[in-house]
Amino acid sequence: MPSLNNHHFDVYVTSTFDIAYALSRALDLVNPLINNHHQRVAFIAGSLAHEAGYSETETENIIIASLIHDIGVVMEEEFNELANSKSTSESEFCHAIVGAQLMSCLKLFPDTPELIRYHHSPYGGEHNPIEPGKAVPEQSMVTHLADRVDVLLKRDTPSLDQKAAVIENINRFDGIKFHPEHVKAFNRLAERESFWFDIEEQEKYKLLKYNFRFSHLSMNIDNILETAKLLSRIIDFRCIFTANHSAGVAAVAEVIAKLMNYTEDEGKSLKVAGYLHDIGKLGIPSSILYKQGKLDEEEIQLLKKHPYFTYSILNTFQIFDKIKDWAAFHHENLDGTGYPFHMKEHKLDTGCRIMAVSDVFTALTEERPYRSSLPYDQVKSIMDDMCRNNKLDRIITELVLSNFDYVNGVRYLSQSEEMDAFKTFKNIIYNNEICTKNKRFVSTLD
Ligand SMILES: [Fe+2]
Ligand SMILES: [Fe+2]
Ligand SMILES: [Fe+2]
Repeated sequence: MPSLNNHHFDVYVTSTFDIAYALSRALDLVNPLINNHHQRVAFIAGSLAHEAGYSETETENIIIASLIHDIGVVMEEEFNELANSKSTSESEFCHAIVGAQLMSCLKLFPDTPELIRYHHSPYGGEHNPIEPGKAVPEQSMVTHLADRVDVLLKRDTPSLDQKAAVIENINRFDGIKFHPEHVKAFNRLAERESFWFDIEEQEKYKLLKYNFRFSHLSMNIDNILETAKLLSRIIDFRCIFTANHSAGVAAVAEVIAKLMNYTEDEGKSLKVAGYLHDIGKLGIPSSILYKQGKLDEEEIQLLKKHPYFTYSILNTFQIFDKIKDWAAFHHENLDGTGYPFHMKEHKLDTGCRIMAVSDVFTALTEERPYRSSLPYDQVKSIMDDMCRNNKLDRIITELVLSNFDYVNGVRYLSQSEEMDAFKTFKNIIYNNEICTKNKRFVSTLD
């Protein structure tokens, strides 16, 4: 058996910044209206941290947390609300709690969950609505102030023209919402025109990367797997019906690699692609993703854009370079009738074919809201048909069907584990008073 794509996952040398920046680009897709919100807040927060005299490490932590601070905003409608709100509402605290919980599975950034958790909490422990009496971490307060500055700035007017109004608004909450030292630092920064021009600068990548210092990260396949799992949860944990789909595809892809005698690392790299194949659904409105009942033609066309988004998200991560085709081509057919790239068989390597088979197999064998898991005979007949019509790879399909119980058992176990993780996540939210008050959010988890 030839090795997959002739590559090996050794170690990628990257930086904390590159990983967090790519995550922030993925979040942008949820709603284009947020318009570089994460990158702008990261820049403002980094500048504030530097001006206020925080150490390089503290500044790094603040920028990383700012780049992903709204990761808990799972419904895109909430983004609109946050972008337009001028005062603190309960949903602000809820998405901070959700974000911290999501990030806690990523060991690469150990300080980030705590910083995200309090990014809307006001200055002064006694006013901390999430945990009354607990002092809010100072670094979270930097992100908080930066977030307010960006929310106050209208995108259709030059930032410099809005300077006076923003300064007035921030100073009004000096010592109430915001730390007095941070407000002082902000006032000094605000005097410089360049600060306002920099906020508008589109090329935030360079601005951040070369003005601040970030740690190197050596990513091995296990760190990459962990990052992929986090990304898959952002999309899967939005709804109970999809809460474990990617975990199923990931497990099936890995077990196929094992059956084909690929190395353990090759199996893990296919697993990464499995976790990420549907990440492009971040770009699809949830009104379509979770619509009860039939989609109309226009909605189907939009839904079919998700592998395209998968490709563009993965393109921003250097660490996913080798597997982006496997993940993004999962709806391509060998005869060229798939979507959205219409790749033909000579362009679809073994990794792509394994992903397509894994996705179909998982979709047929997992429980769906409208039907239960299909038995062997039906799975076999549907997949055989797809091979006959030159949609799926016959050799890989036959391998899976002849090991049906084994492959299905692995899928089931992995999906059960992920459903347990989802339930734990859900319970933490349900048991939090602030989040249960925010009924709209909670209802999406059921
Ligand atoms: Fe937020
Ligand atoms: Fe925000
Ligand atoms: Fe898909």
